[in-house]
Amino acid sequence: MLVAILHAAQLVTLAGPKRPRIGGEMRDLGIVGDGAMLVEDGQVVRTGPSGAIQKVLPPQTQIIDASGKVVLPGFVDAHAHPVFAGDRVDEFEMRAQGATYEEIAASGGGIRSTVRKTRAASEDELLAQAKKHASWFLKGGTTTVEAKSGYGLTVEDELKILRVIRRLNAETPLEFVPTFLGAHAIPDEFRGAPEQYVALVIHKMLPQVADEQLAENCDVFCERGYFDISDSERILRAAQEHGLRLRMHVDQLTNSGGAFLAARLHAATADHLEQIHAAEIAALAEAGVQPVLLPGSVYALGKTRYPPAREMIEAGLAVVIATDFNPGSSPTPSMPMVLSLATTQMKMTPAESVTAATINAAYSLNRGDRIGSLETGKLANFALHDCVDYRELAYYFGVSHLHSVYVRGEQVL
Ligand code: NIG
Ligand code: FE
Repeated sequence: MLVAILHAAQLVTLAGPKRPRIGGEMRDLGIVGDGAMLVEDGQVVRTGPSGAIQKVLPPQTQIIDASGKVVLPGFVDAHAHPVFAGDRVDEFEMRAQGATYEEIAASGGGIRSTVRKTRAASEDELLAQAKKHASWFLKGGTTTVEAKSGYGLTVEDELKILRVIRRLNAETPLEFVPTFLGAHAIPDEFRGAPEQYVALVIHKMLPQVADEQLAENCDVFCERGYFDISDSERILRAAQEHGLRLRMHVDQLTNSGGAFLAARLHAATADHLEQIHAAEIAALAEAGVQPVLLPGSVYALGKTRYPPAREMIEAGLAVVIATDFNPGSSPTPSMPMVLSLATTQMKMTPAESVTAATINAAYSLNRGDRIGSLETGKLANFALHDCVDYRELAYYFGVSHLHSVYVRGEQVL
């Protein structure tokens, strides 16, 4: 089956070196004006100017007219918590009236309130809600989503969430990359004995998750009141022994030295980093750790300190941006919203933001060879946006430009 996308106002290919993009490379999107792409059996065969591609089209080719539209690779959302029950609109309103995220968490709300609801939900109920979230990601032009557990915090409930993620892969057009986040919070029943919960994560949860091959990555919320450096290190080293790749929540609310730990462990990513300092940026660069910046959570919590993206780009870090979609600190599944925040609040250029949301994100999930750009041999995961300049995606906010989405060459929206 041969498909040709023709006459895109801009075909944004992200073609370039076969590795994460750094420094000035982040501004090079490989844009083809009046662009065309040939797709066969779900893979990109060729990209180039429409004139050149039209000359070589076999007669049976299905034509998609992309005139007046921008074609982008599907966004790769490299940090999300899409499986949970209920919502936290009550806390949202409390924050509007002055309560802080930290105060709400300390009084038993926050992550632990979502844990109570998620434990009470059946696998089917969780799946139904997660499918709704999946449709939201797709409507923003996202085709790959990293998906963390972390709202179960018992062996059975963590496995339940990871099985829901497996079913999302089978039953939706999106690809979900599973991450085990048993160390997301100390659950109510272990408040007096956190070390026993850490032991449960290491000795019961991790072996089962690995046995059933339910996760590719392991994450820890390294933060005051959650998991300290030494607990985080023990959990993550155990995860490495089970063959999992590491991602970490670090330096979000306070700086507890988590970025240095990410560097020491050669984690794939260190995420959040609102409170990072220059020496830690240098350590991440030295260790080749990719920072995943989550401006949606800064925005939604009404905070003003965004992570220092410019310093990171100048230090040669292969920056990634993601939604952090979750019911508490970042209830957005929209990568275009994240592009807007990256540009307006973190002073990344629109091009750097697109690179961070596609090819760099793909590499952070160990999928840089398959997705994240529109190059020969890669999966034909792409979206048509109803605008003529890719920068409009970040510029107009609160409006959807999405026209259609294709996964492996097939239209899914
Ligand atoms: O990435 N920081 C920890 N986890 C989420 C928040 C989860 C929640 O509030 O439910 C985050 O911001
Ligand atoms: Fe998160």
